[in-house]
Amino acid sequence: MAIFLDTAKLEDIRSYHRMGIIRGVTTNPTLICKANLRGGMRALELHSKEIAELIAPLPLSVEVTSNDPDDMLEQAQMFSSWASNIVVKVTIHGPAGELENLEVIHDLESVHDVRVNVTAMMSAQQCFLAAMAGATYVSIFGGRVNNMGYNACSEIARLRKLLDQFQLPAQIIVGSTREVLNIVEWLEAGAHIVTALPELLAGMLVHPYTKETVQMFLRDAEKTNAVIHASMAGAR
Ligand code: E4P
Repeated sequence: MAIFLDTAKLEDIRSYHRMGIIRGVTTNPTLICKANLRGGMRALELHSKEIAELIAPLPLSVEVTSNDPDDMLEQAQMFSSWASNIVVKVTIHGPAGELENLEVIHDLESVHDVRVNVTAMMSAQQCFLAAMAGATYVSIFGGRVNNMGYNACSEIARLRKLLDQFQLPAQIIVGSTREVLNIVEWLEAGAHIVTALPELLAGMLVHPYTKETVQMFLRDAEKTNAVIHASMAGAR
């Protein structure tokens, strides 16, 4: 699994998918806004279908846009009917701590055959309960955890230990990347997947000293090419 891309921007998804380094894509309503998608549910459907087709069979997470239990159930089933690789994101609880979400999550996974990514979680214990409810993916927001003064790596390690101990099949996704270092450190801490912002993947890839080395190779190759060209010209 390893790395997902955390964006709704098609050009970024296309480019990193072509490199073969991502194993899925995650979106949320904020990322959809940042991709300048307008046009309501129809636009979300067309955009999600386009991403899903582009990366198939890799998974695409699409988040429900309501916290009403009936709406969540209905939207989740609709999103999942758009493409077989769509996973539906549902937050662990509502904006005021409403507890119905876990029941919806459990129903979606166990009755409706919908794969769920439980999202907006800040602790190992929240993720553990989501995994108990049958979630396919449990998403902990590492950057936000660190911002609150807790240690994301410790939470990830505790969570991985619990999932392994109780043989829960949920996969840990760590999102909310803030620094290039987060990608490897969270994988090392026990995450199955880190969903990374495109600019952080670029930061992971490009190294100033590699640039300098490649420049040296190209300069020297140019000299060699000149010699080859000259000797070929002389042979004619
Ligand atoms: C991923 O699944 C999350 O939706 C995302 O990484 C949240 O990141 P943020 O904390 O930057 O909003």
